[in-house]
Amino acid sequence: MNTAHAAWYTLPLFILCLLVLISILLSTLKTGISPMPSSGKARREILQQLFDRLPDSKQTMVDLGSGWGHLVIPLARRFPQHEVIGYELSWFPWLANLTVKYLLRLDNLTLYRRDFLRSDLATASVMVCYLVPQSMHALEQKLKADELEVPLLLSHYFALPSFKSQTVVYLDDWYRTPVYVYERLTT
Ligand SMILES: C[S@@+](CC[C@H](N)C(=O)[O-])C[C@H]1O[C@@H](n2cnc3c(N)ncnc32)[C@H](O)[C@@H]1O
Repeated sequence: MNTAHAAWYTLPLFILCLLVLISILLSTLKTGISPMPSSGKARREILQQLFDRLPDSKQTMVDLGSGWGHLVIPLARRFPQHEVIGYELSWFPWLANLTVKYLLRLDNLTLYRRDFLRSDLATASVMVCYLVPQSMHALEQKLKADELEVPLLLSHYFALPSFKSQTVVYLDDWYRTPVYVYERLTT
């Protein structure tokens, strides 16, 4: 293959990668957080905390900012009896996550490319999130404005500004990362 042919093949790939990077950069600027996945330790701890607390009856679990699906996919696999929903604004991670959902045939998982702050979360009985302080503040404002009662909310890394969590679990990692567990959250 000569140089002209190589350029012909690699140029579309290069442009695609560039568009993906730009799209991720723009959504990061908009939301204030990149689609960085939860660590394996955080994921395992969140799944365990949920497993210990979830009732047998069908629940609606929502990942507020589902990124590439590192948490929402294990949630849907581990809890097939529950409905799992992911909200994500960033196009490419959402699309990649959707592909995995169909490959794994996770019928209990719904993935919306939508802002969870502008969505109806009234049916959510369990919420999980890995956000930044400004988004936690916005989430708290939304919970209050919509007068939502959330039976269970788990937040990886940052707390809600004015609610007190019943439990804080510290991960066995370099930062002693906290996972905040809010039970029967009423606004
Ligand atoms: C740090 S990632 C966490 C991904 C996943 N939950 C996990 O734990 O692996 C946070 C994600 O939240 C998304 N996000 C932030 N604010 C959002 C909003 N208002 N609506 C939808 N997605 C949002 C970001 O685009 C990002 O992908």
